[in-house]
Amino acid sequence: MTICKNGEKEQCLILGLETSCDETSAAVIADGRTVLSNIISSQVPVHQKFGGVVPEIASRKHIENVMPVIHQALSDAGVKLSDLSAIGVTYGPGLVGALLVGVSAAKALSFGADIPLVGVNHLEGHIFANFLGRPDLAPPFVALVVSGGHTSLVHVKNYNDFELLGQTRDDAAGEAFDKVARVMNLPYPGGPQIDKLSKEGNPQAINFPRALSTKDSLEFSFSGLKSAVLNYLNSAAQRGEAVNHADVAASFQAAVVEVLVSKVIQAAKACNVCRIVLAGGVAANSELKTQLLTVCNTQGLELHYPQPVFCTDNAAMIACRAYYRYQAGQIADFRLNAVPSLKLGAR
Ligand code: KG4
Ligand code: ZN
Repeated sequence: MTICKNGEKEQCLILGLETSCDETSAAVIADGRTVLSNIISSQVPVHQKFGGVVPEIASRKHIENVMPVIHQALSDAGVKLSDLSAIGVTYGPGLVGALLVGVSAAKALSFGADIPLVGVNHLEGHIFANFLGRPDLAPPFVALVVSGGHTSLVHVKNYNDFELLGQTRDDAAGEAFDKVARVMNLPYPGGPQIDKLSKEGNPQAINFPRALSTKDSLEFSFSGLKSAVLNYLNSAAQRGEAVNHADVAASFQAAVVEVLVSKVIQAAKACNVCRIVLAGGVAANSELKTQLLTVCNTQGLELHYPQPVFCTDNAAMIACRAYYRYQAGQIADFRLNAVPSLKLGAR
């Protein structure tokens, strides 16, 4: 049963806020899964000239954008603040200054309009992006969260019960995509660029390393792969040899995808679940989806992944996660603060 602000309301409306990195986003969703609005103000063009996110600039841009984005989300959804059942906001993990902007705005609105406040873990939000517009999807499942800052395997046992099965020891998958793209002079963020360039290359051209690919490990490591690509490019430059960038991109991507696919399948078997979900920006990678779908089909596993707009940072996924916390009575008080290294499943 849906618990709403008061018994007369037909819909449970949640405002979500996301400012953990370089997107300022606000969204309104109804009854947990129907997106009424999802406004994303991206700072990508601002950070592009630096080749990555500059934290201080990100915080300042969030301050400029946060209220206009909230107004737009409410107006596009056709709702007033007083219609809301709760406000959900990302409070970690992420850049501390960036997180503080969203948390402060959410606390002010919650206090001013007397609306319950719900703190949301950004990674849990990425996983919950899979529920948006999908009334039939439910736990249990294994989630592979692959973003710019994280690579984690999570057993989602129920809407509020998660177990971290393994994560990266060093670089995140998206970080490796971005760093490799940067040395190949491709613009930030590099993931979509490598994805595109790989379509013209041979994934078997260069045999880059697949780290920690033993059967018993659910941990990842991408820094060795990143160094191998850099060494390959530097050695070729020193010898004055021309490099086929499409082959490098395709071979690098193949190494990342092979490890991700094999570990998520291994995790699903270990947890005895028949459903896998992808989450985070790298979930938009076309090769990852193609390869994983092929393996899932042969092994009788279900695969789910969000629409591309819900893969990268957005507030609709935060509102979705907030809905399930709100239903479980997990309401925050005004001591809610930014927690840059917030752990998955923390209460
Ligand atoms: O989830 P996200 O928007 O932000 C974080 O929470 O980190 O993920 C951004 C990351 C970036 O590293 C970006 O390069 C990567 O997702 N990404 C991709 C693709 N689209 C975005 N990586 C590989 N292939 C893609 N198509
Ligand atoms: Zn993210």
